[in-house]
Amino acid sequence: MITKLRLNHHLQIKESVLKYIEKSNSVSILEKQDKISLSDYNDGSKKEYVKDIIKSGIFNEISNSLFTNEIKINHAWFQQYHENDRHNFHIHDSMMSLIYFVELNDSKYATEFFDVKERKIIKSNATEGDVLIFNSSVPHRSPIILDKTRKTIISMNFEIIGLDSRINDFI
Ligand SMILES: [Fe+2]
Repeated sequence: MITKLRLNHHLQIKESVLKYIEKSNSVSILEKQDKISLSDYNDGSKKEYVKDIIKSGIFNEISNSLFTNEIKINHAWFQQYHENDRHNFHIHDSMMSLIYFVELNDSKYATEFFDVKERKIIKSNATEGDVLIFNSSVPHRSPIILDKTRKTIISMNFEIIGLDSRINDFI
């Protein structure tokens, strides 16, 4: 199950994230089949953009959507893709994950998921400012960028703790 939400104050947060990236100690990720021009994935320091995203209220929306009492963020990082960059199918070592599309000029470059039951690719068709929430064990990928488009995302791994008893109202 993939949930799509919109981030409030996206344009302000986008500006702040892009400024952060310019001055951050980000590096390229080059692995067998992956090429990501800039990322702070392995940077263990506190990241300013996490505060901005929390302030947007997105975690309250996620809690309401998933009927959970508490969310614990375990890891947050950005990835910036330039021409010829891609991130092939992978999963995250976590319970839940999100992807916030900070910069996305064309939905064809949005994350794609693999439905292991149906054995087929599911296109998210996300647009800039969208936030996708999914179980971390769902394989997903960032398709190869074939033009001068620059794509920037923030991803977070988190745990949901406790079930909101209001779920019983739906029985
Ligand atoms: Fe991912």
